[in-house]
Amino acid sequence: MSELSVNHLLGIKYLNLKDIELIFETADHFKEVINRPIKKVPSLRDITIANLFFENSTRTKLSFELAEKRLSADIINFSAGQSSVKKGETLIDTVNNILSMKVDMVVMRHPNPGAGVFLSRHVKASIVNAGDGAHEHPTQALLDSFSIRERLGEVGGKNIVIVGDILHSRVALSNIFALQMQGANVMVCGPKTLIPKHIEKLGVKVETNLRKALNWCDVANMLRVQNERMDVSYFPSSREYSQQFGVDKTFLDSLNKEIVIMHPGPINRGVEITSDVADSDQAIILDQVQNGVAVRMAVIYLLASKIKNL
Ligand code: NCD
Repeated sequence: MSELSVNHLLGIKYLNLKDIELIFETADHFKEVINRPIKKVPSLRDITIANLFFENSTRTKLSFELAEKRLSADIINFSAGQSSVKKGETLIDTVNNILSMKVDMVVMRHPNPGAGVFLSRHVKASIVNAGDGAHEHPTQALLDSFSIRERLGEVGGKNIVIVGDILHSRVALSNIFALQMQGANVMVCGPKTLIPKHIEKLGVKVETNLRKALNWCDVANMLRVQNERMDVSYFPSSREYSQQFGVDKTFLDSLNKEIVIMHPGPINRGVEITSDVADSDQAIILDQVQNGVAVRMAVIYLLASKIKNL
């Protein structure tokens, strides 16, 4: 039986193409399961998972929880806001206390880049990174590629542009790694102030003109402007941002071809994209959310199979 090359999902950069293909084949199966009248399988009845969220989340947290429940795992949930972290407990102590209750896997979102890697070296459990600061968000990139593959047949050879706040985005970095591994051409587009210096060293094209970028691409992934990560102003106002980097239906219809629109959520309607774009047939935003559950089931199932073999 094929298995993942890793014991943790800490970032896309630790995976290889075979891992991604295995995750997608497994997710295809789980997507069929979650569309059945009985949406559950008993596979992980003997596995306990802790969801540790040290940073706010709606979609990702709910998606992981649902994926775990559909696999029949036991789960415990922890949000930093209501915990002893506020009393000064360290991350390792917090997690080790939770693990002493016999937890096999930890899904963690944390504001510090590298928090998952750090944890994986100090605790005995399989770690899934659900977003570490502005670093990586591997399951988001996997569900994004899975959704492109579903809509366009394959990811390899496609032109994908990631638009907006690249500088503060963990979604962008994980997507760049995942898309390139599968043979897609990747471009980033946004205000100069929100594009990291030297990003072209990662092998991506850089464009500051949105019309040129959209005329080049097959898929545009419209990122949210991450105001909560900005301590200074990177552009004059939301109005000016949306005039230069936002997409409305008239703009979309004026392009030389029909492109696919993605967004990781949460959307700032009217800033990155207008409502008529978000709700149009060209947008696959709700497919991304649905596929997120199947892809996370696949990741958890494949990592848990490795724990069981130990
Ligand atoms: C993203 C995140 O938290 O990194 N959202 C998500 O996981 N669905 C992107 C964002 O917050 O804009």
